[in-house]
Amino acid sequence: MTKEFIRKKVRERYSRVAKEQRSCCGPSPTCCGSANTADAIAQKIGYSEKDIVAAPEGANLGLGCGNPVALASLQPGEIVLDLGSGPGFDCFLAARRVGDTGRVIGVDMTPDMVSRARENARKGSYINVEFRLGEIEHLPVADNSVDVIISNCVINLSIDKSQVFQEAFRVLKSNGRLMISDIVLLKPLPEFLQQSVAAYVGCISGAMQKQEYLETVHAAGFQQVRILKETPFSLDCVRTDPTAQAIIADLKISPEILNGIEGSIFSIHLTGQKAG
Ligand SMILES: C[S@@+](CC[C@H](N)C(=O)[O-])C[C@H]1O[C@@H](n2cnc3c(N)ncnc32)[C@H](O)[C@@H]1O
Repeated sequence: MTKEFIRKKVRERYSRVAKEQRSCCGPSPTCCGSANTADAIAQKIGYSEKDIVAAPEGANLGLGCGNPVALASLQPGEIVLDLGSGPGFDCFLAARRVGDTGRVIGVDMTPDMVSRARENARKGSYINVEFRLGEIEHLPVADNSVDVIISNCVINLSIDKSQVFQEAFRVLKSNGRLMISDIVLLKPLPEFLQQSVAAYVGCISGAMQKQEYLETVHAAGFQQVRILKETPFSLDCVRTDPTAQAIIADLKISPEILNGIEGSIFSIHLTGQKAG
């Protein structure tokens, strides 16, 4: 699998999600469901009912693996950048916190996601949010221009995570901060999963080892890098989904192997700062 092949597959996958409103990325037992399970997924990963109701309909597709907005301590007037904004759920929640004097920019590389997010902004009459088409490895954002970067279950999908954090560092102002929800690994995955495109686009096999992830964030220049929260990934959906079951049977994956995989995957909330 070349890097460009993976990027193409990720884009295809999220283009389908944007059009079909299906969800399935993140450590939730309900992750195999359709759009009507998105609210349940959101609640499970840390969003309140108030958050869910506040966002425009269709902005939450249950694609996250945490709630970075809840921990970002956003202040009125701040400029926020969301890496891989999808249909815009976190951008809309952030927009309410930064108010009319603040601004939120969402960047996503999938044109169908950006269209959907823009439509959601229009439906919700958000005037302080904009969505830009672009890759998070080459951010369409000026140097030293952003107060806070958020991202939710996206960086694991990147084909160059070091470059993502270098770009994040470039666009943040001095004393700007990161609040990232993402997937990391505590043990290497079995070979068949490492080679699986489905596991990559499903936010599993592109994930880095936790220690390597922390080192990558540090190497980009960030200070005070800390994991605030760490939650094991549940494979309950895989156990109950008929398609996943057929693949498991086909690949002769034993329950022991499945349990081992489950204990290797975690969602994290990570923070860091660009020193002044
Ligand atoms: C799992 S979804 C998460 C969406 C959103 N953060 C949320 O929580 O609803 C991943 C999103 O990241 C986008 N994405 C993946 N890799 C990207 C990259 N390298 N550059 C920009 N966007 C990317 C996809 O198009 C998709 O919309």
